[in-house]
Amino acid sequence: MGRVIVCGSLNMDVVVQSVRRPKPGETLLGAEVAFLPGGKGLNQAVAAARLGVPTSMFGAVGDDAFGERLRAFLADSDVDTLGLQVVPGQASGLALIQVAEGDNAITVASGANSCFNESMVSAAPTRDAVWVAQFETPLQATDAIMRAAHQAGARTVLNLAPFQPCPAALLASIDVAVLNEIELAQATGTEIAATSPVSAVVEACRKLRVQGAGAVVATLGRRGAVVVTADDAVAVPSIEARVVDTTGAGDCFVGAFAARLADGASPVEAARYANVAAACSVERLGAAPSMPAAAEVAMRLRSA
Ligand code: RIB
Repeated sequence: MGRVIVCGSLNMDVVVQSVRRPKPGETLLGAEVAFLPGGKGLNQAVAAARLGVPTSMFGAVGDDAFGERLRAFLADSDVDTLGLQVVPGQASGLALIQVAEGDNAITVASGANSCFNESMVSAAPTRDAVWVAQFETPLQATDAIMRAAHQAGARTVLNLAPFQPCPAALLASIDVAVLNEIELAQATGTEIAATSPVSAVVEACRKLRVQGAGAVVATLGRRGAVVVTADDAVAVPSIEARVVDTTGAGDCFVGAFAARLADGASPVEAARYANVAAACSVERLGAAPSMPAAAEVAMRLRSA
């Protein structure tokens, strides 16, 4: 079995659940709040580790109580946290997540995440590892880290979320790009909506491959996922889920996908598995706490 190395963000998610979103200028009473570990990097690391694959995380937290809680949560989830740096004088990343009417809206204060840089990564890439990154930490660091991992022969998975324009050399060092419909539209300048036909999604994925990514996986929420490689385009159907909160479902997909790749699966096999893991995660509140264990995913796979 290989291992998963996640480089990226950690946030304390302040999850506020209300019956509806307040209008601009309105004060809405009656909400409930939960402080839950999150951040795309942390979520992806927890997803991979809970599925039983050795996982390490590199990232930055502030010298505050939230930073301590995030580190402790990762350690409890069996993620190696030796690569976490504490940035003096900085607050840990914080995400304000409003959950209402079956949907969420997220505002992020990056804090220490914006201080993360490539010199904070002490591990040397090895061929048996899958390196994972997203776009919630500085692009320059992601670029340097993923290019070094690729050059050393490790496999690389980049989650282009939240989307920002990506240097061509970075994309050329990515084995698998994972992104949702909105990010795919932004990355390719294509009109893609939740109702766009799968053929349009496949065409946009192919555009991203032409830009340099080895394979492209588009996550389509209730519609499952699409995997486009050099040889093939495969639609992976979704499975039934009782949706409570979709926050972190994309991160669950990425972490589970990387875990299966590290275990020797092909991108299509990994996407099928990750799709089921993500369906399990939406049935609980929160991002990182909702990541499933391997036994739960195995049970859902059997009944799917
Ligand atoms: O993808 C979900 C994550 O986005 C949340 O955990 C929040 O921290 C933001 O980073």
